Amino acid sequence: MRRSPDDEAPYAAGFRSTPREVADVALPVRGTLPDWLSGVLLRVAPALFEVGEQRYAHWFDGLARLHRFAFADGRVTYRSRFLRSRAYEEATRAGRIVHAEFATDPCRSLFGRVQAILEPTTTDNAVVSVNRIGGDVVALTETRLPVRFDPDTLETLGIHDFSTFVEGSVSTAHPHHDGASAYTYLISFGRRSAYHVHAVDHAGVERELARIPVERPSYMHSFGMSARRLILAEFPFVVNPLRLYLSGVPFIRNYRWDPTRGTTLTALDKETGAQVGRWSAPPLFAFHHVNAVEREDALEVDLVAYDDASVIDALYLARLRGSEPVRAVGRLVRLTLPAGGGDVTVRSLSDTPIELPRIDYPRHQGRPYRWVWGNGQAGADFLDSIVKIDLAGDPATNARVWREDGAWPGEPVLVRRPGSEAEDDGVLLSVVLDARAERSYLLVLDAATLEEIARAEAPEIVTFGFHGNFLGTPEDGPLHA
Ligand SMILES: [Fe+2]
Repeated sequence: MRRSPDDEAPYAAGFRSTPREVADVALPVRGTLPDWLSGVLLRVAPALFEVGEQRYAHWFDGLARLHRFAFADGRVTYRSRFLRSRAYEEATRAGRIVHAEFATDPCRSLFGRVQAILEPTTTDNAVVSVNRIGGDVVALTETRLPVRFDPDTLETLGIHDFSTFVEGSVSTAHPHHDGASAYTYLISFGRRSAYHVHAVDHAGVERELARIPVERPSYMHSFGMSARRLILAEFPFVVNPLRLYLSGVPFIRNYRWDPTRGTTLTALDKETGAQVGRWSAPPLFAFHHVNAVEREDALEVDLVAYDDASVIDALYLARLRGSEPVRAVGRLVRLTLPAGGGDVTVRSLSDTPIELPRIDYPRHQGRPYRWVWGNGQAGADFLDSIVKIDLAGDPATNARVWREDGAWPGEPVLVRRPGSEAEDDGVLLSVVLDARAERSYLLVLDAATLEEIARAEAPEIVTFGFHGNFLGTPEDGPLHA
């Protein structure tokens, strides 16, 4: 449904700057929090969308603020602080945008622009996710500059330094973990561009597993991991590296959609980095891999797919705040990569679109699994619901949905009930904007039924962000890996 051209989007409050930090406050709870729920939900989100007279252009660009919801004894407290990144410190000090972001470039000389994108002075505005690399809890964006912070105080501790032998300036905010290591990749741009795939063990020791030369690097937001493989999906949204140096436009605007290239999938052995397979698939685009599972005769790679990369354009702030509806969901699909090579098949796993997908990562990443949770879009406007998809069900009817009028939920993070057997025995934690009240609340849903268990009202709007993780018991996942 079209809104009047002068109308703001009904959820636009979630894209307004929130400059005030919040010290520890107890939140009023409606309902009853599970007594076993103990730990901390850590999230990061863009919360300053302008500096002085200048505005950031894209949802991925605003200055990062950390949010911490701490659960214990049926109570929840909330704290929120800006990440004191160099991008934040220099911008707030100068009263203008200093570092180039994903789709925002400060006015600068050509030399400065090249530096901004390709040198270690590139942005550390780690606005996308919270995770762990080596021994560090970090906020991440898509550069090689994860920012360490204290998960209790939210104090910024400085950059997580990769070793100098690690090449590449652009990375992913979605590292993977298994019992032994974190895995990530960096992309180096130049006359000889390459994907550099890395393992970082829990003592912080880094290894370059593979270096894959590439002429036109693809924009990749995440990658896949099965029990024994790392999987890069190169979508045909690619860049001529020279453009990054010479074009004079922000980073992502140098990329071009070229469907004639198709999608290339490369599987690497997780231990040795050896290439174990390479496949061509139809052209598609995705931000998020969901899971990957090895079968006897094939490797299955599940992701949230789009027909092309135009969703990136839909997420410019002017469009998100404006009067036109924004479609921000994709299709959950399975790419089946035959062992030994051959044609890749792409099969839709659900008729219900989804984004910001989550699974029971600690127990089911890389293994057979049944449930995917995420945000849905039941109405026209924007992400407006929480969905649970049953991969064992009929794609036409395999989704359960939580939705409430005037409520705009973010990524649902699964916390499994300690000692539970079932994959969906636990709760989902989602920060929801109540647009009418102009406040946010933390929603606690039963992960199996999507019924509300409790909600805790935040003292303010928590701006729309992307990802978070739960730091509780060692079974809770990446932050403990
Ligand atoms: Fe993401």
